[in-house]
Amino acid sequence: MSNIVEEDLVVVSNTFGEIYSKAKSQKEKREIGQFFTPQHIAEYMAKLSTFSESKKMRILDPGCGNLILSVNLIQTLVVKGKVSYIELDLYETDLKLEENIQSMVTAMREFLESLGIGFKCNIILKDFVLENAKYINSDFLNKYDIIISNPPYFKLPKDDPKSIATQQINGGFPNIYSMFLAICSNMLNQKGEMIFIVPRSFTSGLYFKKFRKYFLSHVNIKSIHLFQNRNDTFKKDQVLQELLILKAVNKPVDQVYISSSSTLLDDISVKSYGYKEIYDIADDNSYIFIPTNITEDKILRIVSSWKNKLEDFGITISTGPVVDFRTKENIFKSSNDVENLKPYFRLNNVTQMKLEWPLNSLVKGQYIHGNNSTKSILRANENYIFLRRQSAKGDSNRLICSPYYKDDYQIDFIGIDNKLNYLYSKNRSLTAEEIFGLSALLNSAFMNSYFQIFNGNINVSASEIKELKFPSYDVLIDIGKKISKDKLTDISIINAYINEKINYE
Ligand SMILES: C[S@@+](CC[C@H](N)C(=O)[O-])C[C@H]1O[C@@H](n2cnc3c(N)ncnc32)[C@H](O)[C@@H]1O
Repeated sequence: MSNIVEEDLVVVSNTFGEIYSKAKSQKEKREIGQFFTPQHIAEYMAKLSTFSESKKMRILDPGCGNLILSVNLIQTLVVKGKVSYIELDLYETDLKLEENIQSMVTAMREFLESLGIGFKCNIILKDFVLENAKYINSDFLNKYDIIISNPPYFKLPKDDPKSIATQQINGGFPNIYSMFLAICSNMLNQKGEMIFIVPRSFTSGLYFKKFRKYFLSHVNIKSIHLFQNRNDTFKKDQVLQELLILKAVNKPVDQVYISSSSTLLDDISVKSYGYKEIYDIADDNSYIFIPTNITEDKILRIVSSWKNKLEDFGITISTGPVVDFRTKENIFKSSNDVENLKPYFRLNNVTQMKLEWPLNSLVKGQYIHGNNSTKSILRANENYIFLRRQSAKGDSNRLICSPYYKDDYQIDFIGIDNKLNYLYSKNRSLTAEEIFGLSALLNSAFMNSYFQIFNGNINVSASEIKELKFPSYDVLIDIGKKISKDKLTDISIINAYINEKINYE
């Protein structure tokens, strides 16, 4: 009997959500980050809760929308049969939802009371971040047992009151979902758990570093479920980020469960990892690794034994300094146009292991004039590695680079476009072995897969490359010697050689 009534609530919430959502434009929905959780995902999230004490339970649903998450969670708790009193706090800023929230809460109360379960609900039609940002730094007293949420996702300007109120955890582009996560991580009681569906973007990158440090010093990740493709479930609402479901708890955690599936939640595969394999507390970067198959698993285990970053080899990486539209008058198409032209390398000149310059098919100018105004944006003719800052959509390789060998160019200075990163040393010249060895490694299938375990987008930032781990310097130089001696450019041969050197089959 109870299930039938509760299922009615789920149906009402879901149907209302669909109708309400259809009536709103994509623009309106994007502005307030309103994308309702599909019922099958809400049910999956609710079932992740393992909190099972028979006592007064305090639950929070910030950004509650149509209450689909609360309804499913309460259904799960009722089925477990131990709960005797529920206090539910709801936050929502879309005032047009008020009437619906009220009637859902009334139905919930009738249902719970019919089962002898006490129920109190606080509907707070206020901005969750502005109301609670103060708890990032101070103690929140009346802590929650379970927090369940599909928070809004959108970037906010730095001067937005919410960004200012949460300054401590914001990197370059504050995103509202990380504010919800950070605040909630300080609102859980000792045995509490938080279950969120959020974009994957917080797991890596510099912009979320402060947030990661804060969040992971307050809670421990217990499980992550990654959606591997974005089929119609999310597409209809144009949610284009990679999403994941995260469960974090207050208690210490030994094992982390990582699973993945399509958005239909069919074919789920789960694996467990030691906490340190997923999250390296000692690493300043605080990346969270999400391996989703056996290959990624093997890669992580190999990389976890590597100790070196580029800086340990005395090598660094910067973004190319030439922005063509800012120096249009100095860019030329033919070497005969004027005197004193230098090679100017663009993204298209760089392919895996091969620098193709000048490229006949490229319409844009590939020469830059050496003069006083370009002096500061030219670089000395030294050995470098040019690495694309962006891979093409659908390209399986994110890391595409070529060695730049100075002896191939009889010139004093060169131009490097700002769509390229370049690797160099601040106080010495890179050797031929270094540029060939590093180029081969960065282009390899192994490093590409490793990079993609924590990078979900097509951009390749210099800061992320600085954080990559590499095998020992000796291995790097051995690879470089082999590549330069045999003049290897064929990636499949390079892959086979690298895999052998790093014990990866
Ligand atoms: C992604 S929707 C999720 C709704 C519902 N919880 C679900 O799972 O379907 C996020 C909800 O948060 C609300 N919201 C946006 N900004 C908010 C804020 N600052 N404080 C509270 N709610 C907010 C939106 O109106 C929207 O209903």
